[in-house]
Amino acid sequence: MKLRKLGRSGVLVSELCLGTMTFGWQADLTTSHRILDRFFDAGGNFLDTSNVYSSGKSEEIIGQWMTGRDRAGVVLATKARFRTAEGANDVGLSRKHLWHAVRESLRRLQTDYIDLLQVHAWDPLTPLEETYGTLHRLTEDGLIRYVGVSNYRAWQFEKALQLCRSRGWHEPISLQPQYSLYARATEFELIPMCLAESIAVLPWSPLAGGYLSGKYRDGVRSPPAGTRIGDSKDVEFYAGRFENERAERIVKTLHEVGTETGKTPAQVALSWLLARPAVTAPIIGARTLDQLTEDLGATGWSLAEGPTAALTRASDLYATYPYDQRAEDQQTSDRRLA
Ligand SMILES: NC(=O)c1ccc[n+]([C@@H]2O[C@H](COP(=O)([O-])OP(=O)(O)OC[C@H]3O[C@@H](n4cnc5c(N)ncnc54)[C@H](OP(=O)(O)O)[C@@H]3O)[C@@H](O)[C@H]2O)c1
Repeated sequence: MKLRKLGRSGVLVSELCLGTMTFGWQADLTTSHRILDRFFDAGGNFLDTSNVYSSGKSEEIIGQWMTGRDRAGVVLATKARFRTAEGANDVGLSRKHLWHAVRESLRRLQTDYIDLLQVHAWDPLTPLEETYGTLHRLTEDGLIRYVGVSNYRAWQFEKALQLCRSRGWHEPISLQPQYSLYARATEFELIPMCLAESIAVLPWSPLAGGYLSGKYRDGVRSPPAGTRIGDSKDVEFYAGRFENERAERIVKTLHEVGTETGKTPAQVALSWLLARPAVTAPIIGARTLDQLTEDLGATGWSLAEGPTAALTRASDLYATYPYDQRAEDQQTSDRRLA
């Protein structure tokens, strides 16, 4: 696997990040540790977890695996913001909850620092000064190395950046948004902002939760057992997302490109994402070792221009103002130089 720079920082991360949301949920301790071993054997060094995945079990499983290993060789990302217990302050981005959440994550991860602490989502209740002042202090005190953000809108990220700059605080260096061939609204505001500010983009659900692997051939209402949609009690949610012409066209094109290139639909979908502007490292998720092995096969080659264009066309989102072509032309035209 190739290495890429994590935004403006000097840290190098593998071009695929290993997501660990399945750890302690669909993947037991043994499978999770095998997945970690294989990912690192393949040249990976970048792990993503959260303090809420499997109520903290994901962090515990990583902590057990890291014991006795070279801590400096791992770039470890986790998150805080969502509810961890029933108390009034067991949620959010207040100074009180952030310090508590970080100490608890460090305990579960059996380490004394987090490489990238990501704000899991916007907190409408806590002043931005309180959150980013705390993240600055956590960095200065050595409990975290870098600050990242997840699920922000572009104006929220830019506001946080400007605040940090005005105060001389450590700025967020990465954004973790949902982004895939299926989820491309991220390209309207977030990706241009990340390009302009040199922010690392770490796409979550790069396979749209498994849909882009092409395994829901008979539709999401008759999903195979032992899959995320098959195990879900909310098939209607998935039907709402995937029962439409665009989603079906994307999967059809993935199969066509796969046949042409000798790769699987999952590998093609990941390869398309790896080549998108601003993308640093898609966060892959796996329930089994076989899935991980297949997904790692998305690296070491790249899609030619023709299939890339076919996938981009098949997944186009209908854009209205201010993202349509006329608005785009207004942004770029300058008759004074004509
Ligand atoms: N910041 C956030 O709010 C947020 C939200 C979600 C996720 N994340 C992060 O992003 C990571 C990845 O998210 P995700 O799990 O949704 O990613 P994903 O890659 O879109 O989906 C992964 C799932 O797809 C299926 N799959 C993977 N490879 C496959 C293959 N080769 N063939 C067939 N099926 C395959 C597996 O599900 P089944 O076998 O169960 O079908 C697997 O668990 C998470 O681990 C987490 O670290 C962050």
